[in-house]
Amino acid sequence: MCGIVAYIGEREACPIVLEGIKRLDYRGYDSAGIAVVRDGRLVIRRSVGRISALEEKLDHELEGATLGMAHTRWATHGGVTEPNAHPHTDRSGKLAIVHNGIIENYRALKAFLAQAGLTFESQTDTEILAKLIGYFYEGKLEDAVRKALREVRGTFGIAALHADEPGTIVAARRGSPLIVGIGDGEYVVASDAAAIVQHTSQVIYLSDNEVAIVTRDGFRTTTLDAAPVSKDIEEVEYTLRQLELGGHQHFMAKEIFEQPESLRNCMRGRLDLEAGRVVLGGLTSVSRELIKTKRIILTACGTAWHAGLVGEYLIEQLARVPCETEYASEFRYRNPIIEDGTTVLAISQSGETIDTLAALREGRERGALALGIVNSVGSTIARETDAGVYLHVGPEIGVASTKAFTGQLTVLAMIAAFLGRRRHLSHEECFQYLSGLAAIPDAVEKALQLDSATRQIAAEFVDANNWLYLGRGLQYPVALEGALKLKEISYIHAEGLPAAEMKHGPIALISEDMPVVVLAPRDHWYEKVLGNINEVRSRGGRVIAIASEGDHEIADLAEHVLYVPDVTELLQPLVTVIPLQMLAYHAAVLRGCDVDKPRNLAKAVTVE
Ligand code: AGP
Ligand code: GLU
Repeated sequence: MCGIVAYIGEREACPIVLEGIKRLDYRGYDSAGIAVVRDGRLVIRRSVGRISALEEKLDHELEGATLGMAHTRWATHGGVTEPNAHPHTDRSGKLAIVHNGIIENYRALKAFLAQAGLTFESQTDTEILAKLIGYFYEGKLEDAVRKALREVRGTFGIAALHADEPGTIVAARRGSPLIVGIGDGEYVVASDAAAIVQHTSQVIYLSDNEVAIVTRDGFRTTTLDAAPVSKDIEEVEYTLRQLELGGHQHFMAKEIFEQPESLRNCMRGRLDLEAGRVVLGGLTSVSRELIKTKRIILTACGTAWHAGLVGEYLIEQLARVPCETEYASEFRYRNPIIEDGTTVLAISQSGETIDTLAALREGRERGALALGIVNSVGSTIARETDAGVYLHVGPEIGVASTKAFTGQLTVLAMIAAFLGRRRHLSHEECFQYLSGLAAIPDAVEKALQLDSATRQIAAEFVDANNWLYLGRGLQYPVALEGALKLKEISYIHAEGLPAAEMKHGPIALISEDMPVVVLAPRDHWYEKVLGNINEVRSRGGRVIAIASEGDHEIADLAEHVLYVPDVTELLQPLVTVIPLQMLAYHAAVLRGCDVDKPRNLAKAVTVE
């Protein structure tokens, strides 16, 4: 996951490639860099965090160059540091590459190059490839690139420049997408058409093990063995906005349907099934202190707070660490008791929510270990923690949080296993749990097939002005989240409750005019939830049940049943929430609401 953009033509390269990587920032990144060829030399700038941090480093040295490339990195080898940011260069400093993917045999290649006397400035696999191309360079960049890539095992999408060849970009791919945009006397190479469509709609898509040699006069494509390959020029049909929307009507819909991929990205490189453990590089610096923590306080707002409620269960069940979830807006003013060994963990998609930031600062000032689970790289909360874990689900544009919520649940599930394994979980227990987690993206993919069923139910109840959501245990936070989704985008009043609490008052509300959504997967609360469903039905209530595939018993009790895949019980919230997201989305569309920008709401609440 990262963004590559390269440009060659008559215009200034720097602003074009910079704008290009901004259009790719949804792909997720943690650092960025740019390289141009000017007056026979490479000029490189790199930074960690947001692209705006890179922009602050741009100076006149980059001006006037008409050949350049930029990159947003999503680290797989080597931490998030400036030396590890791309572009990486060869020993001469005249050749640079940017790379998307993983060089699996980088250790062997590094040993070979070290024997040849080369030294290395970074911890990345990409630098090894740059040094290898430089090792083979004998005056023709395309030959050196092909020769080096023939030695590589793993995946790559790369662009390469050489200061002695100011009229050439060499690009190649295996496993990571790369497209060549064909303009009028100019060309743009990018990971995704979103960075190309503002310049041209004519493109060629590189296939695996193909190389493109792009000059101001045109392009050629070959195999890694230099055999010519002919490519059809294709038309990118989408407009930029559509591309950004991925063909969906709203960002929220795009982000709901992105969840299988966003969850794979969230887990990528972090589940070591063989060793039965979780690898969270962002916690390395504090792992010894975290392992000994006596209490964890999760603090957040809104949807992130709901994720915290699920995380509380997971951490207590798997790590056996006392855990509580606090509204950040309450915690910050409550003069909280923070004993030695306390960890305060802030959960925030934007990383800018003022209440959550204040709660984190409160905990930290009282001596707690301050951690974060954040999506926006380089955000204020991320910067103020002692350590943390990024979601890596890509920017969430829709105001109603969907993929960030499931990303938060996934990171909390990984942190619970990370702690549990270091405290009492056996290899086998952790292997089983992590195998269940690894299977979640496919299960979410299946749950997304409920889209038309949820649209029909939303249409049937479109005039209902009050909904009730019920759940027990792990499903209670899901009930809260489902109610919030409906409220915030369709403006329908909805309330989430622990299912057993309904009979302590809210049962007075039950009527046929108020749909009751009941989270009823096969878990150890199931029989009790069936009892609650009967209590609703016996008072004329209409039940929409979210149930596990294969559960036919519930079909006799509920008016509608939305079946989701049966997954590890502790991970069920990751799939039971999916139909609730779609239900809220369709209700909002049917009621003509502005789904992506609901009235009165902001994506990041930076005021109290
Ligand atoms: C989620 O659908 C809402 N938009 C809102 O509750 C949000 O979760 C809350 O404001 C917290 O935002 P954060 O995760 O960026 O801190
Ligand atoms: N493996 C390379 C690195 O860790 C590239 C990662 C990416 O695709 O951004 O730098």
